[in-house]
Amino acid sequence: MRIVVVGSGGREHALAYVLGKEHEVVVAPGSSAIGQYFDLSDKDPLDIDADLYVIGPEQPLVDGLADRLREHSKAVFGPSKEGARLEGSKAFLKDVLVAAKVPTAEHRSFSDLSHALAYVESMKPPYVIKTDGLAEGKGVLVTEELSEAKEDIVAKMTGRRFNGAGRTIVIEEGLVGKELSLFALCDGRNAVALPAATDYKRLLEGNEGPNTGGMGAYAPLSWASDSLQEEILDTLVKPTLKELLRRGVQYRGVLYAGVMVTDSGPKIIEFNVRFGDPETQVVLPKVEEDLGDILLECAVGEIDTRPKVSSKSLLTVVLAAPGYPLSTKTGAEIAGVQRASKRDGVKVFFAGTSYDSERDVFVVSGGRVMAVTGEGPTLLEARSRAYSAVSEITFEGMHYRSDIGA
Ligand code: AMP
Ligand code: GLY
Repeated sequence: MRIVVVGSGGREHALAYVLGKEHEVVVAPGSSAIGQYFDLSDKDPLDIDADLYVIGPEQPLVDGLADRLREHSKAVFGPSKEGARLEGSKAFLKDVLVAAKVPTAEHRSFSDLSHALAYVESMKPPYVIKTDGLAEGKGVLVTEELSEAKEDIVAKMTGRRFNGAGRTIVIEEGLVGKELSLFALCDGRNAVALPAATDYKRLLEGNEGPNTGGMGAYAPLSWASDSLQEEILDTLVKPTLKELLRRGVQYRGVLYAGVMVTDSGPKIIEFNVRFGDPETQVVLPKVEEDLGDILLECAVGEIDTRPKVSSKSLLTVVLAAPGYPLSTKTGAEIAGVQRASKRDGVKVFFAGTSYDSERDVFVVSGGRVMAVTGEGPTLLEARSRAYSAVSEITFEGMHYRSDIGA
């Protein structure tokens, strides 16, 4: 098949890498760094001829790209604009979860500041404050401190943070337990699970510092049994698909379940309507069947059995630019990428990296610069490969977590 992967980050690089094993891949628009390995196109995806369109990031989904392609009878892996509201609007998400009776945190939405402040004062810690709208995983505050929660509410509701993504907020009960990311491949009615992964959302070692888009990940998780993953499909994912269908939404794409496994069972923290980044980099290479065929089955409404996966472990470490996640400084030259990539069992996925062809160097162009990924028969081996590869790479102000998978 000829497959268009829409997007330009580490997740799309990983999608292109795995799909590219069996198929011709075009990344649209991709990046100059990804362009070192794959064909790129900066055309509107609709103007690129292909057998399958795989849409990576949430924004084009929220903007209705999948609908536009389907209007032209294209096979698309990615939900419609209406389905993408699960991620685009926390208030919509909660509405669907309540209607589908899916276990999740107690919560309320607010557009009035004084009501929001009164409500948070009536709650117990930890306090969880979210914006309504896309904030790329960076719009969430989880804190034990009431004063910090109140400050954050004021900042979010008055729009001082996150530009347009502020104003309506959701205040939630803090869930306590073990967190995992599960990718459910959905064909509108049915869903199958890929192996669960864990993501490190906080910036600093020991899970300190602000939330980020994700600083590292690994898979599989020794504590997440197949039966737990099936339970997540049955109690969280499938009821959501059914409720969407009742509302006229045929959800064909990945539902990324952010799950807290609590003492009283798994609960949804959030659904995303795309693959997670950097979890994709550690999950997709485990798939042993043809991923293109599987995603096509979802696109045409025929997903049936859980894909076969290898038992190997993968672990990825995100190298971040100075200032990330607040204000990122770009432009630094990156050394050692080729050396790192040549190591056994190592793959470097480019995110905020560009390639300067005149100077023949990779350059920092975004906050999360690259995901350095190791694989091996055990997590320990995957980890040691990833970190040895990281030690080859340098750029000014580079920072990363040294405790991924520790
Ligand atoms: P989100 O963008 O909704 O995924 O939130 C980012 C991170 O904040 C999650 O991955 C969790 O670690 C944490 N978080 C969000 N909501 C809750 C909650 N209700 N209880 C506990 N932790 C949460
Ligand atoms: N790694 C978290 C996310 O993709 O939202």
